[in-house]
Amino acid sequence: MSKVIHHADVETATLAIAKECHELAVNGREDGSRCVFGLATGNTMASVYKSWANLALENSMHPQTQGFNLDEFWPLAEAGEQSFGAFMNEHFRGPLGLGEDLFRVPACPAGLDPVDFCQSWEAAIQNAGGIDLQLLGIGANGHIGFNEPGSPSSSRTRLVDLAETTRLRAGFVGDSAPRQAITAGIATILKAKKILVFAYGEDKADAIRKALHEPPHSDCPASYLQNHPNVVWHLATY
Ligand code: F6R
Repeated sequence: MSKVIHHADVETATLAIAKECHELAVNGREDGSRCVFGLATGNTMASVYKSWANLALENSMHPQTQGFNLDEFWPLAEAGEQSFGAFMNEHFRGPLGLGEDLFRVPACPAGLDPVDFCQSWEAAIQNAGGIDLQLLGIGANGHIGFNEPGSPSSSRTRLVDLAETTRLRAGFVGDSAPRQAITAGIATILKAKKILVFAYGEDKADAIRKALHEPPHSDCPASYLQNHPNVVWHLATY
């Protein structure tokens, strides 16, 4: 079941999401153990991390809280400062002094087979007890993570080709920049206990409409979120 919350502006939406993340990170799971976040990057998320980090600086999160980012470019060396690991350092891990062992990005080391890496990534999420809260942005083409249109609903963490529009939006032009990425699959995302989607902007309006109102289809990967029992969409007027 999807719930949709319309916010008057981006700031209000940002704060609502940051507060929910913060409270869960402080309180942990119902049994008192730490919780696990699924994390996204991108412009939409940058302000969420800023607000969340400010809250966490005042009241620390439960020790051992963990995070698994959705995606990372491959080969990593070609992404340079535009890697998602660098994004997380700048916006979240750095300000809070969080270790890369607890807040992890699927950065496949050079020399390691991406297929093996992806299997170990799925196993690591499972060993952590699964994801309690997954943060998601959405692409103008309906992608979630780097599950571009055409991605099957059964997909797991894997190496994928990036759509040209996605590369351009990430600031990559030309050949000497990553054309592939490792991404959690749609089935991986749908295993999270709860999902928060944050989206705004004219360019995303069509993808949001399809995701919410058209039957789930691989043309709009975000539409598969309709198959999850606990998704909250935070939409804001831009
Ligand atoms: C990145 C990710 C992507 C972004 C999406 C929106 O980790 O998962 O699916 O959430 O591309 O990006 P922005 O917020 O930059 O529009």
